[in-house]
Amino acid sequence: MKKKPFVLGLVAVAIAYLAGAYYLYRKLLFPILSSREVLTYIWVVASGFLLFITFSLYYILAFQRQLKEQKVRQRKSSSKLQKANEGALKALIHALNYRDHDTWDHSTRVAAYATALAEHMGLPQSELEKIALAGYLHDIGKIGVPDRILLKKSNLLPEEWETIKRHPELGYEIIHELEFLNSAADIILLHHERYDGSGYPLGLRGEKIPLLARIFSVADALDAMTSERPYRAARSMAEAFGEVRSLAGVQFCPKCVKALEELGVENLSQIQQRAKDHKIKEFQPEDLIPCSDII
Ligand SMILES: [Fe+2]
Ligand SMILES: [Fe+2]
Repeated sequence: MKKKPFVLGLVAVAIAYLAGAYYLYRKLLFPILSSREVLTYIWVVASGFLLFITFSLYYILAFQRQLKEQKVRQRKSSSKLQKANEGALKALIHALNYRDHDTWDHSTRVAAYATALAEHMGLPQSELEKIALAGYLHDIGKIGVPDRILLKKSNLLPEEWETIKRHPELGYEIIHELEFLNSAADIILLHHERYDGSGYPLGLRGEKIPLLARIFSVADALDAMTSERPYRAARSMAEAFGEVRSLAGVQFCPKCVKALEELGVENLSQIQQRAKDHKIKEFQPEDLIPCSDII
């Protein structure tokens, strides 16, 4: 900000005050002043204030212009940052998709189930965005699981299970490094916790598990149950509902199971069908990274 006009304005006011002091001094010593002296005084005071107003206006206008330029610069840099964030998110998603396409299909369905469930439970938009992001990325840690284990068609050995069980922590390590994805990192870390405390990696129990992670675990399991596995056929949505219901208070949060039942088999079957028809696979990162979060 240029200070010169403001300083000049102050100088003008100082001159006006000096003229006032001189006038007072003359008036006290010589009560009768010539009309020329009175006119000169008025002229000096008026021009001092006029100069002050002119310089102040100039100063205010320059300040406003600078604010406007700063806002434009800020908008440009936040839109650049948003593009960079979208790029990073797309890169992560492509990496997961190319590494293990089944995991990617599973992620899109889980994102859809979890968002529908959270919406039904009345969670705000910001939480829905968080849970959708977590849906797409929750198994990103599987990138760190060797192919011989990740793609194994037969039953896993106990030590192979232990390797698989590291994926929530690996996912958390990858995601929490990116500030704009931080909000999803906790769900990623806790998506295999169980309501009775027998889950992993932290073994949290009951409502100590954040609500979004509890909702998420229902959606994740629902998709696992309704998907085909090398060792068993896919169950129907109604069968999966029955199994989830039987595990309320054991593996799943009873409130989330109740919400799932209210949402109903039909609604969730429709979401599943839309995913199969590739109608919910058009991923739009910009929908999940609102500008307001970045500015
Ligand atoms: Fe997982
Ligand atoms: Fe999963």
